[in-house]
Amino acid sequence: MAIQLIVKQNYQEISDAAFAVVRRIVTDNPRAVLGLATGSSPIGLYQNMIADHRRNGTSYAQVTTVNLDEYIGLGAQDDQSYVYFMHDNLFNHIDVKEENVHLPNGMAQDTAAECARYTALLAQLRQDVQVLGIGANGHIGFNEPGTSFDSTTNIVKLKDKTRLDNARFFQSLDEVPTHAITMGIANVMNAKKILLVANGENKADAVRAMIEGEITTECPASILQKHPDVVVIVDEAAASKLSK
Ligand code: GLP
Repeated sequence: MAIQLIVKQNYQEISDAAFAVVRRIVTDNPRAVLGLATGSSPIGLYQNMIADHRRNGTSYAQVTTVNLDEYIGLGAQDDQSYVYFMHDNLFNHIDVKEENVHLPNGMAQDTAAECARYTALLAQLRQDVQVLGIGANGHIGFNEPGTSFDSTTNIVKLKDKTRLDNARFFQSLDEVPTHAITMGIANVMNAKKILLVANGENKADAVRAMIEGEITTECPASILQKHPDVVVIVDEAAASKLSK
């Protein structure tokens, strides 16, 4: 099995182990392309990157970043947008250059053109590592169950479950956007390495389906079984439904 599974005791340990992977990539190649993710799962990783940058001077000045996804209709000024999240949680606190930071534009007028632009960009910027969280229904990025494994950047109608799960970041469920733009599954799979972090019992079914389930579009993350270099770092609660 290609997926390397690491089970840790708690969120800090997950974040430390994930940081060790990212740090190695950046120190081996200061010009690395980092594929990044939003959601609560990678926040500890980003905090470790910031602390290490401050303490040890690890530099991101030549690094390029590509993010997974963005809500349609939210822009940089909107504190629920992913572009805002990434600046707030990481980019504003390290020395990455703004011109080297890329996210899909949720404010684009022509969404089809924006999808094509982002897919073309990703073809130029193959991720040395793609950081992922996982949705409780097995989604990666915003690629919901049923998405083709061949998909490239696309516009998604969010499932009710995903909107509910993400409503905690908004004032009310009504404010959660109905659509998002996301890197496709083929764009994720093109990364040289994949680093997925998950914690909590809420993720246990998705983690089991990803690692032990059949490879099916019903669990988008199950396609990771076919990637040659995947590290999955979870806590005991997220690992609790695995058979061994
Ligand atoms: C959102 C994001 C995903 C993320 C998922 C899980 O749907 N688009 O990239 O993996 O949430 O979020 P969390 O890490 O907060 O559980």
